[in-house]
Amino acid sequence: MTAEPTTTVDDFVAGLPKCELHLHIEGTLEPGLKFALAQRNGMELPYPDEAALRAAYDFDDLPGFLTVYYEGMTVLRTEQDFYDLAAAYAAKAHAQNVRYAEIFFDPQAHTARGVAFDTVIRGLTRALDDAERATGFQGRLVMCFLRDFQAEFAMATLVQALPHKEWIIGVGLDSDEAGNPPVKFRAVFARARAEGFRLTMHCDVDQKNSTEHIRQAIEEIGVDRIDHGVNALEDPALLALVRERGLGLTVCPISNAHVTDGMKAAEIRALLDAGVKVTVNSDDPAYFPGYVAENLAALRGPAALTDEDLVTLQRNAIEISWAAPAVRERFLAALATYRD
Ligand code: ADE
Ligand code: ZN
Repeated sequence: MTAEPTTTVDDFVAGLPKCELHLHIEGTLEPGLKFALAQRNGMELPYPDEAALRAAYDFDDLPGFLTVYYEGMTVLRTEQDFYDLAAAYAAKAHAQNVRYAEIFFDPQAHTARGVAFDTVIRGLTRALDDAERATGFQGRLVMCFLRDFQAEFAMATLVQALPHKEWIIGVGLDSDEAGNPPVKFRAVFARARAEGFRLTMHCDVDQKNSTEHIRQAIEEIGVDRIDHGVNALEDPALLALVRERGLGLTVCPISNAHVTDGMKAAEIRALLDAGVKVTVNSDDPAYFPGYVAENLAALRGPAALTDEDLVTLQRNAIEISWAAPAVRERFLAALATYRD
């Protein structure tokens, strides 16, 4: 069940310079924009109003969420739709003092229903470009392959991304993890690495084979970081591997609370204490209500996060990001000033 965001964001969290690394742009499609795009595209949603739509966001696991998520994004059809989606997120990010974000997008969820790859990429990049010039907020894209589709489709999608390396800086893997292990995409990720893309992958929380998937992602794919990955805590050898390699984990507390049991606050605290480069992110904030500020604020009490911990989380984020050195330095300087 989801509801409107209710978390109160304190002044320290509000003002903190932020870096977001786990956000699906299609997961920022808020009900108001969904209705507006449906109307513009001559589609009728099977709900009378936004409240009824939100009430239908009734899921308590990953497959249940994904059904709602894919259905919701069918209103995205034109370049302008993707522009409006990314522009709305960029405005929200700027309002929350997010300085830099690496933003997931799911091109196969659009090309599979007849929307051209270029339509998606042009809309998203034009919005990010405009936002950067207007506000300084910088967004770059991480292209996710849908793991419940065939590896051949992922490979063809990777080829479509090759002319867009200026914007697409990395590749990831998302969607339904059950029966779709990292090694299914071994060749795709090897090619992506050879083409110069950075690599990440979802290892969603409390999946049937979470620890084995984390092991595969690290040892057999050679990822640069892991999305979620909290279950690494269950296996001391795996945790040691994560720590030794300095692999970041992009965790999403409010999302976790909606698809598994709770925000995983104790686990996030333990990861921080173990010196793992853990970060806090928002995943799909239109569905798991809360952007990055609300996620930090919601986690603060349950994970006993001090101001220093909040700064550490942002330092971790920029350090494991794939931002250009100048962006990284500017961010770290802002963080250092903020703490004083
Ligand atoms: N697609 C969008 N959000 C996702 C998540 N949290 N896990 C897997 N696939 C997703
Ligand atoms: Zn995700």
